[in-house]
Amino acid sequence: MHKSRFLAGIALLALSASGCGLATASPERGVMVPAEPTLIDFVDPATVVGLSMQTLTEGHSLRGGYAHINYPEFAGATALNDELRAQAERQLRDFRARTRNVEPMSPRPELNVDWQLAAASPEAVAVRLRTGEFQGGSWGNSTRTSWFDPRTGKAAGSTGLLSGKAALERLAALVREQLKERGNEVRSDDVRAGGDAFDSMAFNRDGDLVVEFDDCQIGACSLGRLAVAVPAGQVTPLLSALGRQAQTSAREARPAGDTPHFTPANSPDAVSNQAGSVDCATAKCVALTFDDGPGPYTGRLLDLLKDGQARATFFAVGSNVTAQPALLRRMSMEGHLVGNHSWAHRDLSKQASSKIADSLGKTGDAVSAVIGQSPTLVRPPYGAVSQQVRNVSREMGLALVNWDVDTEDEHGGKAEDIADRAVQGAQPGAIILMHDIHRETVDAVPDILTRLRGKGYTFVTVPELYGSAGMQAGRLYRSGNELPGKQPLT
Ligand code: NI
Repeated sequence: MHKSRFLAGIALLALSASGCGLATASPERGVMVPAEPTLIDFVDPATVVGLSMQTLTEGHSLRGGYAHINYPEFAGATALNDELRAQAERQLRDFRARTRNVEPMSPRPELNVDWQLAAASPEAVAVRLRTGEFQGGSWGNSTRTSWFDPRTGKAAGSTGLLSGKAALERLAALVREQLKERGNEVRSDDVRAGGDAFDSMAFNRDGDLVVEFDDCQIGACSLGRLAVAVPAGQVTPLLSALGRQAQTSAREARPAGDTPHFTPANSPDAVSNQAGSVDCATAKCVALTFDDGPGPYTGRLLDLLKDGQARATFFAVGSNVTAQPALLRRMSMEGHLVGNHSWAHRDLSKQASSKIADSLGKTGDAVSAVIGQSPTLVRPPYGAVSQQVRNVSREMGLALVNWDVDTEDEHGGKAEDIADRAVQGAQPGAIILMHDIHRETVDAVPDILTRLRGKGYTFVTVPELYGSAGMQAGRLYRSGNELPGKQPLT
């Protein structure tokens, strides 16, 4: 049942082709790419039926670091889902162990995992996880690509594209040859068949095998991403059955050109960025805010809000937006407001202005492509704000929104406790922080709506709290009852 849904999705994708849409057919911005052949045409996740998002987070306690791990899950690809989940849990556990005893410090250590689809066809599925870790003042990035064979139901690492150990040895030799041409800047002799040197491989559109290396793995860290494309003619004899399937599907996939994808909802019902009609100067208002989605429970949350006739503000993560545009479209159509929560949930306060602008701009574009409007509010990941974040937000026309009531739901917890914290913390003008990536949070919502409504509250979107005074780009808001002109410090 699940399998047929998954395969139907893959078949649909084969028809619509890959390499098109929002997050695809272009290299990651800000990544140094040495040569065109090492580009991979990433598949637009919105074209894959049965794909949902999973997120692991950490970061509200005073000690330790910030962590945000995002990865996809596919209906019918159990072995791949298990592998991705195990890897995410391992990464979070290792990061916790490394940062557990770290004294509170600024900037905090941070782990961030984002993903792309390097393949998604009836022959092969590949998830490329990009891990960034911030330790001791700088980011180190690494990639890992996990493969799945829909024909056998088996998952494999990138070396599963090759027919065996001898093929891997031969590939290592081919890669060393290419790297030697770059002279001394690259330590080509460090490229060995063992270890994890070949843990991130995928095919480009010509069927060449792109082998990616982590920052600092075989050259100076300042070189950034290093990758080699081994020509199809050399690599084809080395491939396993899965490798051949993956190579064929990469060659067949072409940017779709005029293939329709996301249809912007330019409907009059799309009220996303318009303030609602509630006058919070007279009504008792509260703004529920949901961060980090859309996720697996967002659809149910939208049902509950609809039943309870409540509007909310969703601060969406850009990479989730591209994966689940239908949920975003629903938010907009049902009168909720969509805000910007950055592309991959990295702490913006320790990023340069160009990276902040890139992350917010990409997310704004993704939201706009789905609902026809770009967000005017941004919630900075972890609530962390720097002067650069304020400046960039001002230039981009975005008001910054934090919260004054924290339901402390980031680790799930009990629904009753989440509801109690929301209800007890509420006061007129409150901005309540929640996360729609947790089942328990969504479970708490009916109780929150009933109890707060019983106290006379109306549920509004964040801009409604500020009424005709409006919200100013670049300013940080925490609550609707801050005194006018008073600028909170962060
Ligand atoms: Ni968040």
